[in-house]
Amino acid sequence: MIKPDAVQRGLVGEIIKRFEMKGFKLIAMKFFRPTQELLQQHYAERSFFPALMEYMGSGPVVSMVWEGLNIVRSGRQMMGATNPANALPGTIRGDFSIQTGRNIIHGSDAVETANKEIALWFAET
Ligand code: TYD
Repeated sequence: MIKPDAVQRGLVGEIIKRFEMKGFKLIAMKFFRPTQELLQQHYAERSFFPALMEYMGSGPVVSMVWEGLNIVRSGRQMMGATNPANALPGTIRGDFSIQTGRNIIHGSDAVETANKEIALWFAET
């Protein structure tokens, strides 16, 4: 998911391009401003951090489903470390962000988590 700060900064195309160039396949995409209710479900154990909830709900996000061999592992590598100060140059966070609280992208950390997150973010409403 491309977070609100990346949308605001005009990084949507650059981020999508990196996944496409790597060879992954985009199979679903949604552009909308998430509700606090959705964010609380997504960040269940972190939802008590008001700054995180406020940031994630501050504008539209681009939630996506990407498909391909080892997509979770490769996707996390391409994103870089949670704290951009630890994210290597060449990674998305390493190239375009400075602090954990504005780290521009979210990616599922396991296939099981991805399945849950896809069900949550792409639920029929
Ligand atoms: P986490 O799931 O640990 O990282 P990741 O996004 O790499 O899977 O944390 C979720 C988000 O919470 C993280 O992307 C940014 C935010 N966050 C903070 O704002 N401060 C913190 O100290 C941590 C650990 C996370």
